[in-house]
Amino acid sequence: MSTTSIDSLQHEERRFPPSEEFAANAVASSGLYDEARADRLAFWAKQSRELLHWHKDFTQTLDWSNAPFAKWFADGELNVAYNCLDRHVLAGNGDRIAILWEGEPGDSRSISYAELTAEVKRAANLLTKLGIGKGDRVAIYLPMIPEAVVAMLAVARIGAVHSVIFGGFSAESIRSRVDDASAKLVITADGGWRKGKVSALKPAVDAALAKEGTHTVENVLVVKRGENDVDWVEGRDLWWHEAIADVDAEHEAEAFEAEHPLFILYTSGTTGKPKGILHTSGGYLTQTAFTHKNVFDLHPETDVYWCSADVGWITGHSYVVYGPLANGATQVLYEGTPDLPHPGRWWEIIQKYGVSIFYTAPTAIRSFMKLGREIPDAFDLTSLRVLGSVGEPINPEAWVWYREVIGGGKTPIVDTWWQTETGAIMVSALPGVTIAKPGSAQVALPGISIDVLDEAGNAVPVGGGGLLVVSEPWPSMLRGIWGDPERFKETYWEKFGTALFEKPKYFAGDGARLDEDGDIWLLGRVDDVMNVSGHRLSTAEIESALVSHPIVAESAVVGAADETTGQAVVAFVILRSDQSEMQTADEASALLRTHVSDQIGAIARPRQIFIVAELPKTRSGKIMRRLLQDVAEGRAIGDTTTLADTSVMQIISGQLGSTNG
Ligand code: PRX
Repeated sequence: MSTTSIDSLQHEERRFPPSEEFAANAVASSGLYDEARADRLAFWAKQSRELLHWHKDFTQTLDWSNAPFAKWFADGELNVAYNCLDRHVLAGNGDRIAILWEGEPGDSRSISYAELTAEVKRAANLLTKLGIGKGDRVAIYLPMIPEAVVAMLAVARIGAVHSVIFGGFSAESIRSRVDDASAKLVITADGGWRKGKVSALKPAVDAALAKEGTHTVENVLVVKRGENDVDWVEGRDLWWHEAIADVDAEHEAEAFEAEHPLFILYTSGTTGKPKGILHTSGGYLTQTAFTHKNVFDLHPETDVYWCSADVGWITGHSYVVYGPLANGATQVLYEGTPDLPHPGRWWEIIQKYGVSIFYTAPTAIRSFMKLGREIPDAFDLTSLRVLGSVGEPINPEAWVWYREVIGGGKTPIVDTWWQTETGAIMVSALPGVTIAKPGSAQVALPGISIDVLDEAGNAVPVGGGGLLVVSEPWPSMLRGIWGDPERFKETYWEKFGTALFEKPKYFAGDGARLDEDGDIWLLGRVDDVMNVSGHRLSTAEIESALVSHPIVAESAVVGAADETTGQAVVAFVILRSDQSEMQTADEASALLRTHVSDQIGAIARPRQIFIVAELPKTRSGKIMRRLLQDVAEGRAIGDTTTLADTSVMQIISGQLGSTNG
């Protein structure tokens, strides 16, 4: 996307002061900044006690003595599911709707807090009956159906640990995640509705468990949703609806330590192997609840909230499941794609349920922009009062369109910066407080310390670019990488580590700029991680998928700017010498795009694959992705003097005039 067009500059300079409607919020929120500035730890302790029910109160807020391994509220005890369910029922809100579920084909279910609590209690009993206990890992591979939420909460309720695997991932991705976490149980569905048809899920689980690997899975619990035929492994597979029918309806939630693991979520890093990001209970729930309430100005008695993310990503964990349910919110959960059966489906859902808070990704906004405002204009969207953006930088044009067309020119927009690792929102405007600037994520939330540093660890001057750093530990921070403490230290803490500072600072992997008002502008990743439609993909992971195919000798992958998806995957591949003659470039490219999709999942499928004779390398053999990025984005090629063979780029660009790609 171009951020240098005249249009964009005009939008960038626009300012949107908060409207009167949010005046009360402004006072309350400014108080939060003051409190947090005065005593950060006291602030978080107070928030935690106000927002959550602690079975046993904590005496220490933070233990950072073993940095970078943090402990928050360590001697406190709570039950995460109890906080999201039972206590709302006990407070007299059992009839409040928790989930307004919309299936893609148009079926719907409305589930109250009392019903959701009852459902989770039974599911918890079922898990216990299947031998799942405290600390055991359960993999969840489900479509966006209420059972996904029930399954996650049931796992949390008994102190087990979930690892949700996005329904778009392949059998191989399931296998590696299930093995890495030694999961005992997989919860899946026959299939779910996606893009107008049933998309099967269970076959991918079957294929994953049939692969070679460490086999720790004892049972596969299958929710019936797609009604598609599935294979059955007797003794291993169980239908959810049958198994849950004869378990006890009562279940008392046991309290667990604040630092008890809650979930593992795999995300792409700079190597070929995804990292299992570990989150624990008390700190994670404190910050997801705090941010969900304050960033979106939530009033649970009256608001209808909708976050369009899938539960397979961190946004779905924190802002579909834990944050909203801890706050007793009423929310929409939608199974399908935005444009089925017609391109106004999302707006129709907002109109149908009177959605007041809507949280989505810039890629979705840009796709709607392309279709034209006539589509949303045909629906009544006046119920909306706060809009959110997440996952990637939002360009000012899209920001302004979102506010004008979807928000009717009146809603605040919160552009929220955070990561799988941070667990919850870290940088965002607050509605009613912040003068909004399209394109800037703006300011650190109360209780969060963000800096922009240069490579040497010095603060960058106003207007300067640098690296985004979190300087103090925060409650929902990752506690580690599953099974790999060394990688945890190396990836996030050593860049600005103990050699330079008394305590290490967290290196986020993002570039950022500070403007004259101290507002933060995110500039994208500084490592080999791409961001496609707000989803993180690793160049190394896709490269290793490519070279795992027998026709490939070498590959290099770059993220190229894309008008809609932010970035797109573009691959450069050298075929093995005996192969170049056997296939045309187009055939090889089609074959390899499918191969990547089978290896990782459809989201990783390259937009283009260029079959080339050489790759640009430095004398030490490192691929110069920057030059390939120039080619992929159609720019003049940058400085090639450090290449081992300076003619390589001419050969590649010459070749790209040809047909392949
Ligand atoms: O590069 C940043 C980008 O998304 C990365 C985190 O990806 P993931 O862990 O998959 O989590 C996405 C949902 C929270 C970050 O390192 N990113 C996320 N939000 C923003 C963003 N970039 C710019 N602006 C944002 N609001």
